[in-house]
Amino acid sequence: MTKFKTSNRKILVTSALPYANGPVHCGHLVEYIQTDIFVRFLRLTGEDVIYVCADDAHGAPIEIKASELGIKPEQLIADVYKEHTHDFKDFLISFDNYYTTNSPENKHYSDLIFRKLNEKGFIYTKDIEVTYCEYCKRTLPDRYVKGKCPKCSAPDQYGDVCENCNAAYKTIDLIEPYCTICKNKPIRKSSKHYFFKLSKFSKKLESWLKRNKNLQPEIKNFVFNWIKNGLEDWNISRDGPYFGFKIPGEEDKYYYVWLDAPIGYIASTENYCKKNGLKAEDYWNSKTSRIYHFIGKDIIYFHFLFWPAMLLGSGFELPHDIVVHGFLTVNGEKMSKSRGTFFTAREFLQKYNAEYLRFYYASLLSKTMSDIDLSFDDFRKKINNELAANIGNFCYRVLNFLNKNFDGEIKEIDKNKELTKEINEKIKNIGKNYYNLNFIEVVKDVLHISSLGNKYFQENEPWKLINEDKAKVHKILGLCVNIVKNLSILIEPILPSFSLDLQKQLNLENLKWQNINFKLKNHKIGKDDILIKKMEEAEAEKQEFPLNLKVAKILEIREHPNADKLYILDIDLGNEKRQLVGGLKGYYSMDELKNKRIIVVTNLKYAKLRGVESQGMLLAGDDGANVGLLTVDESNTGDKVYFEGYKNSTKELGFDDFLKIKMTVQNSRVYFENKELKTDKEIVKVEKVKDGARVR
Ligand code: MSP
Ligand code: ZN
Repeated sequence: MTKFKTSNRKILVTSALPYANGPVHCGHLVEYIQTDIFVRFLRLTGEDVIYVCADDAHGAPIEIKASELGIKPEQLIADVYKEHTHDFKDFLISFDNYYTTNSPENKHYSDLIFRKLNEKGFIYTKDIEVTYCEYCKRTLPDRYVKGKCPKCSAPDQYGDVCENCNAAYKTIDLIEPYCTICKNKPIRKSSKHYFFKLSKFSKKLESWLKRNKNLQPEIKNFVFNWIKNGLEDWNISRDGPYFGFKIPGEEDKYYYVWLDAPIGYIASTENYCKKNGLKAEDYWNSKTSRIYHFIGKDIIYFHFLFWPAMLLGSGFELPHDIVVHGFLTVNGEKMSKSRGTFFTAREFLQKYNAEYLRFYYASLLSKTMSDIDLSFDDFRKKINNELAANIGNFCYRVLNFLNKNFDGEIKEIDKNKELTKEINEKIKNIGKNYYNLNFIEVVKDVLHISSLGNKYFQENEPWKLINEDKAKVHKILGLCVNIVKNLSILIEPILPSFSLDLQKQLNLENLKWQNINFKLKNHKIGKDDILIKKMEEAEAEKQEFPLNLKVAKILEIREHPNADKLYILDIDLGNEKRQLVGGLKGYYSMDELKNKRIIVVTNLKYAKLRGVESQGMLLAGDDGANVGLLTVDESNTGDKVYFEGYKNSTKELGFDDFLKIKMTVQNSRVYFENKELKTDKEIVKVEKVKDGARVR
């Protein structure tokens, strides 16, 4: 088999450190999935590789956010750390170490690098003008000052660029500037700052870029241009209040977050090495080790200029490669909260399997910085037609047929030179393409192999042939099982959990790249099972919940002619209007009800209540003393309302059966078998009633 390992070199791989002020989203995941696939591939081929990362925990936004929440920044970053690591684990990102930049190791290395740069004369101080808010008592970063654009007068523009006319300017030039925290007018003030002499490194950076053949040419060109146009020295300090490391000898000045963030790569390595009896120098100060950074195209400047200059200036080795990917768009546009196309990692998991996204991203990724699009149409097609119908189907039909007809045992292997030769060629390509980060081609070739397998199985018609030549069919299955086994290895970097389960079914485990061959025989497999479901089937597998619940808007309210506790309500369900009768009188006034968004059971048998027809039923909590409606803020009329993991039934339901369904209130939310009632946009709230109230 192809050998990639050429020496005992150590490899260190990093992804950019996500900011600790918000959740991981599907855009971030492009990077962590890309890096993880690469790392898993290296491990599979026997490389000595570690994958480290950390939360980027410092900076003004984190300090400001914590102060707004009334908590310590340490608390904020600890909470976010838990969320981030949970999300990464569920997306099967296999970090060897996930740390934080707010660590003793990072302080140590930041001070060390700062000192070395300082000793060599690469750091100097100078007074500069900063924008200061006297009310908030803080120096304001660009993003916290707004005003009118000096070029086009558009209001509410940030301190660095105008979103209206794209002009770039300095914060001082804003017209009528204001502090975005308190809205007061900031002042200008002089402050001493530390600068790093980036300009001194122009030559060295240029020659490194020329020498290094791994870096993407299109990015090199960018960076050459920046160098040609002259590099400006870099302000590496910030005034307090700031969440970060204090500059030695200073009272209220801190390292700028982008100084200590990349040093976090070293600190996380050090933390890992300490725990595992290794040495960080063997990665960072070694001529034979290789460091790979994975980053997005928005942080090229930091990783191709500042960071290598810092490493050069303080005596560390430069990265072997810096892989730059593009940005994620959703359905062709920038992700946007208001358009509903901004998905956090967690939100995605609530709807789909993590491996669906890994497969989908892999099918679009190569070593370029072109943007990639998450189009839900394309997503569904790829998952259904390629992942499920091709790979998943081939593996299942082979193992299932073997279990049914040969008690799960293979003996001899059909000698089909032509087929194995074609597959071996594809395997060679797959190895190369993983190595070169050309995952688009990897996915194509893996699909090609399983198509060949499917075709071979199909054309031999083993279900017929078995009556004529059972021995021949047995051999065919022998070859098919070998293809399945090889697929389980080839796809492991992309679908680690599928691969693990498939190998369990094969009664094999922990297969490595070197186990790719056509030699498995006289072997008994385990139980077969469908591992990849089409998206609709995965959806259909959800348990049915007997109610069909929807968001409705109350249009009109009338008194019931024959009952003193009942109202008659006209409601809008998005695509239809209905009339309901509900016992809300005494709990809600007509004014309170008008235009309210409520939750309605739409599949209940119509019934007459004291002579007036009710075409459904509104849901409310009842704790014996009070009745409170279920309601939503952001969802639209007609939106589906459901319990996680359940799909609503559309079958008509009688009132007696309805009464058997036990939904209760806890913390103003509705629960059924420990699942919360929600829409795609939010969790449903219950008004007025106490914990334990029944919902009906
Ligand atoms: N904290 C810095 C990185 C410091 S590295 C020493 C940062 N954090 S980030 O959370 O904003 O982004 C982390 C990584 O995710 C970056 O490489 C960034 O390019 C990437 N992405 C963030 N949003 C993205 C998309 N919408 N699409 C693809 N990648 C994206 O930058
Ligand atoms: Zn202010």
